[in-house]
Amino acid sequence: MKLRISVTSFITLFVSFSVLSLSAGAGREGLRAPALDREFYIGAAVDMKPFHEDEVYRNTLAEEFNVIVAENAFKFENIHPERGRYDFADADALVAFASEHAMKLRGHTLVWHRQLPAWITGGEFTREEAIEILRDHIETVAGRYRGRIWAWDVVNEAVEANEDGFRRDSFWYRTIGPEYVQMAFEMARNADPDAILYYNDFDNEGMNSRSNAVYRLLSDLTRRGAPVDGVGWQMHVPAGFRIKNQHRENARRLGALGLELSITELDVRIRMPAAPDAYAKQAATYREVTGFCLSEPACRSLVTWGFTDRHSWIPAFFPGEGDALLFDNDLQPKPAYEAVRGALRASLLGRPQIREARIEGRDLLIAGGGFDRKSAVFLDWRRQNASVAKAKGNTMLLIRGAAARIPPGQTVSLYVRSGDGKLSPEFRFTRTGDGADDGNTTK
Ligand code: XIL
Repeated sequence: MKLRISVTSFITLFVSFSVLSLSAGAGREGLRAPALDREFYIGAAVDMKPFHEDEVYRNTLAEEFNVIVAENAFKFENIHPERGRYDFADADALVAFASEHAMKLRGHTLVWHRQLPAWITGGEFTREEAIEILRDHIETVAGRYRGRIWAWDVVNEAVEANEDGFRRDSFWYRTIGPEYVQMAFEMARNADPDAILYYNDFDNEGMNSRSNAVYRLLSDLTRRGAPVDGVGWQMHVPAGFRIKNQHRENARRLGALGLELSITELDVRIRMPAAPDAYAKQAATYREVTGFCLSEPACRSLVTWGFTDRHSWIPAFFPGEGDALLFDNDLQPKPAYEAVRGALRASLLGRPQIREARIEGRDLLIAGGGFDRKSAVFLDWRRQNASVAKAKGNTMLLIRGAAARIPPGQTVSLYVRSGDGKLSPEFRFTRTGDGADDGNTTK
């Protein structure tokens, strides 16, 4: 009897394995399998035309990714084309697809100065009327999908590098004033309390005047208690783009505000016709950006803006450039795909592990393995100065004075990143108070 069961389950295992490898085209396991082993989210933007017409396009999406976002379907001009008339057909189709394939769905975007319908841009509205339009739009759209959107890009591209840091050429800024940003976040929280609420922008990944303006805006919002949870870096970058210290520095200052980070629209464009080494250069950029996100505790997900060069906004918006995505025109994986996959797999090997954490007087002591002298410790997403407590075997790390940062009853997330950039799984630590401290690894 026992034998029968195990033979049956072996056959079941074998069959499902073959089905999986068959369905993943040329024996690929997809990006989503190693991503999920890391509790990481890897996604792509969806273009509705091939989504409706091309089965290979849909299958590739479902096999490779565990997050999708609509390239255009949730934007104001498409979902709310006339006053009082909403068109949910495409958005509904994506919600159904995501749920059918156990994928997370990012909602993009509720408030933006572009892709607004003519009834908005050509209308004359008082401030009060514009606020009502904003409220109705957010309540209706975010309310309809309440509980089914993982994260909303509530506000997109509101920042400019000028004195007050706000983009002026926006209907929302002109009619409502800068307060529209906080209003939008509050309305979104009311409409869907469980969605992670993002502020999303471009050219804000490095340390520069635009990312400083984004940082100022988010500092203000969090200080005022506005319900903002995350920052999106679009990252439409050229091949050859490299991750530098400034990107880590920026991720850290955002993390210190208590915000999570996602790379929301990555593509890596190539000047056409492509030079012989262009695809390798592009792959190196994809590898570095993926490795960056996997090694920064605040970075939750990486989403590419499309996945096949056959359907990409780049050639139309960056004349003379193209081939920016992971799959070629025939939906075959490119070197960039292998680079992302390699970065995902590498992040799983030899990760540091936290086994135990406890308060010792004023300090926090972390025990585990895979630590080294260059290990960094993160308490929530804030980087701490840690030192190896007992050099023998490098199995302990000490954060001096950290006890004061964890009041009794509070749960914090701990991560250790080793010197070679490997991030431990999240370890949740609850301080119970009287020495009976408790913790566990979530994965
Ligand atoms: C782009 C889409 O890809 C195009 O199809 C559309 O014509 C214009 O918008 N930043 C964003 C995205 O936040 O919404 C934009 O998407 C690309 C730049």
